[in-house]
Amino acid sequence: MTISTIPATTTEPAETDASGRAMAGTPPLSRLTDPDLYASGDPHPLWAWMRAEAPVHWQPATELPGFWSLTRHADIRAVYQDSATFSSAQGVLLRPAAAGPDPGGNLTLALTDAPRHKQLRTLMAGWFNTRAVRALEGYVRASVRGVLDRAAEQDTCDFATDVAGRLSLMVIAHILGVPEADHDKLYRWTDEAFAAHSSLVSHPDIVDYFMDLLYRRMEEPTDDLVSALLHGTVGGDLLTEIEVVLNCENLIGATENGRLALIGGAQALLEHPQQWQRLAHDRALLPSAIEEIMRWTSSATHSARTATRPYELRGQRIAPGDKVVLWLPSANRDEDVFSDPYEFDITRTPNRHIALAVGEHFCIGATLARAQMRVLFSELINGAYDIKLDGPVRRVSSIAVNGTESLPVRLRAR
Ligand code: HEM
Repeated sequence: MTISTIPATTTEPAETDASGRAMAGTPPLSRLTDPDLYASGDPHPLWAWMRAEAPVHWQPATELPGFWSLTRHADIRAVYQDSATFSSAQGVLLRPAAAGPDPGGNLTLALTDAPRHKQLRTLMAGWFNTRAVRALEGYVRASVRGVLDRAAEQDTCDFATDVAGRLSLMVIAHILGVPEADHDKLYRWTDEAFAAHSSLVSHPDIVDYFMDLLYRRMEEPTDDLVSALLHGTVGGDLLTEIEVVLNCENLIGATENGRLALIGGAQALLEHPQQWQRLAHDRALLPSAIEEIMRWTSSATHSARTATRPYELRGQRIAPGDKVVLWLPSANRDEDVFSDPYEFDITRTPNRHIALAVGEHFCIGATLARAQMRVLFSELINGAYDIKLDGPVRRVSSIAVNGTESLPVRLRAR
């Protein structure tokens, strides 16, 4: 393995300009794996420095294994699109070496390689394609109105939990086949797991719940994704019970990205009132506004891959077994691709963001995430609600997802 010529240092970050772009000296790149940086700091100056000076950078092992950091849009795209060289099966998130292998390895959709990945994806794809999402539109709209009305009746409202989180959970639970009567308790448990930054599989109530649902669907299959996972085959074999449960949890866990995009979108529009007004006056801007919200929020902070063969990138030699980490918010501020990357601009066209990844592992929930955003923001800008920021926001302390986990607002029906 070739070690990058840029040493990790403990130097404090140098002064930055207003956009966070300029940074002199070698900054403390090891901070990229410090959750505090995402909760109370700003990682963008570090990424901007890396894009310019060390776009393929080896970060030595700490409690995390050593890994290559990639920060440029073009490099990240190339790695995503070469899944034969860059495997997902050993995990797609950085995790401490002491935690051992990811329990979902080779079992969940996100953590499988070809050919099994394609077979599993085919089993699920029909629940998330354009046709399926169009059929869900009525459910999504009713759910949006339900959560907004419920939140507007409360004295205080946290948009993150009362609106975005609740909505995201309701929609995926509906697709999986979780009865409406159980949505509230499932939401409570997933919220507890997200707040503790622990995996959903470590929450015993969630595991028990899905095992129970699975046995009910074994006896009486219905038209839902749990039944499809139970009765479908991959490579001629049925999935095991643990595979079904892990894939359900993976789908629920993946919606944390969706909720953070909804929260971040509301926050961005509230913090840029001119853009809100512009959108309210010209609904045709909604599609480009949604793409800009995804670029701006980039809620998936990183994807990790493991090299399966030697690969040379910008003069650095990545060896088989090396971890490679793709920093998505950095790609989505790459000045080689986006003009004024630090400006939130709902008219931005084209917008070649890669917040949803590219290639074989392109987000399966992309159409659903876009539909949820379209319905929620169209309801918010149609004048039926009055919404204002109402207190300090709190950001997520994590290196896996980033964004706002608490967004107090004053929400009232007009
Ligand atoms: C704006 C919101 C969202 C963002 C930014 C986002 C981002 C991503 C990214 C970056 C990946 C690639 C991960 C990797 O391979 O390393 C991914 C994959 C995935 N996403 Fe999303 N996601 C969003 C919403 C959703 C929703 C609502 C669902 C629920 C269905 C979902 C389910 C998944 C699944 C199951 C995968 C794995 C796909 C595969 O490996 O074939 N995502 N997402």
